[in-house]
Amino acid sequence: MKAYRLPPNLILGAGTASAQIEGGNVPHSWNAWEKMGKLHKDASKVSIRTASMHWDHWKEDIDIAAALGIQSYRFSIEWARIQPEKGMVDQEAVRHYREEIAYMIERGIRPVMTLHHFTNPVWFEKAGAFANPHNVKHFLRYVGIAVNSFGDLVSDYVTINEPNVYALMGYAGQGFPPGENDLLKVRRVISVMAGCHIRAYQKIHRMRKAMGYGDTKVGMTIHMRSFAPLDPYSRIESHMCDASKYLFQNACARAFLLGEFRPPFSNLGKFKKGVYCDYLGINYYTRSHVVKVGDDLVREQDPKSDYGWEIYPNGLEECMKELYDIVRKPVWILENGVCDDDDSFRSLFIYDHLAVIARSEIPVERYYYWSLFDNFEWLDGMSKKFGLVSIDQKTGARRVKKSGHFYREIIRLGGVTEELAERCVADEKYHL
Ligand code: BGC
Repeated sequence: MKAYRLPPNLILGAGTASAQIEGGNVPHSWNAWEKMGKLHKDASKVSIRTASMHWDHWKEDIDIAAALGIQSYRFSIEWARIQPEKGMVDQEAVRHYREEIAYMIERGIRPVMTLHHFTNPVWFEKAGAFANPHNVKHFLRYVGIAVNSFGDLVSDYVTINEPNVYALMGYAGQGFPPGENDLLKVRRVISVMAGCHIRAYQKIHRMRKAMGYGDTKVGMTIHMRSFAPLDPYSRIESHMCDASKYLFQNACARAFLLGEFRPPFSNLGKFKKGVYCDYLGINYYTRSHVVKVGDDLVREQDPKSDYGWEIYPNGLEECMKELYDIVRKPVWILENGVCDDDDSFRSLFIYDHLAVIARSEIPVERYYYWSLFDNFEWLDGMSKKFGLVSIDQKTGARRVKKSGHFYREIIRLGGVTEELAERCVADEKYHL
């Protein structure tokens, strides 16, 4: 197997999201969703109120991240913990997060804070969340609270995680709260969220500057896919592919990152065109084959994860190029990972995707493996495993998987040697 060196300035990290790991009876939209009986019943039967028990195990978890050599940790704060009710701030939640962030910094880990990762406080959800343009002010107040509370500790921010997935899954009948099915709302939600991002981008910079800090990095992250026609000779399918790229990711990227609202999105806040990002945030997992727009087909002959998603490392380069052609900023891969229940091909997945970064000419500054721990998958609970570290649901015990040890070696070496590849990856195979 081939050795490779990673770009010397590439920071290697791992990511999580609050609702997927923390647990706790928090008044957020997904907890309410579970209480309404709307969550898929998965084999693990673990509640989102348990998840990976990180709220109680945070110190041990940061110690594990430090032992793995994780250089940067991408995590989210839970808006519903900070503001369980409209107009209030829970200082105890702020204190808890401050303690955790200060500890990760002490252990040499650079924090990257996501402000919104799919969950809303119930009061915000009830007010129509991002489908109601009047709610932008609530989001911006929350952003202000976050920067006031953590701005001295955190310089890197992700305003919103995957607005394209949030809007489609929640407003085109795909199983996320609020469980609506209305394409006009999908358009509106994304348009409103783009305005939230642009204004949060400006606000975070303004506030951190006033606090005396000049090294602030703000962006957001888009779920990007590689798209391919099912029939490689079909011109119609190839047009469908272009339309899928445009609708799913590129039009969205232009609205958020450039304030350029092309159809189907609308510039509700009358934003000027500009550059509203300091990096290009990409979450990349898979490729979709299409016959028509909206398809997500997987061919029998292609390697697949335990979620049934195709494993297609070259798609990462395609997505980076697509976004880099829209805005020339350094790339941060904020999520890249695989569902592999028994950790039998995760090392190979990491090896193959980092190899793409190693040979790319596009400047990539960060890579975050998703996820640091096995966590609560939105539609499938704890039964789907993406983590470098497993959680024993009965005892709460953590165990670093083989892939976690492999990732630690990559971080230590700044790449993969032939010996490491032979030892950790040579025996692994993807399933068809
Ligand atoms: C989301 C994560 C999720 C992952 C795997 C991404 O779309 O941002 O929260 O766990 O996909 O499903």
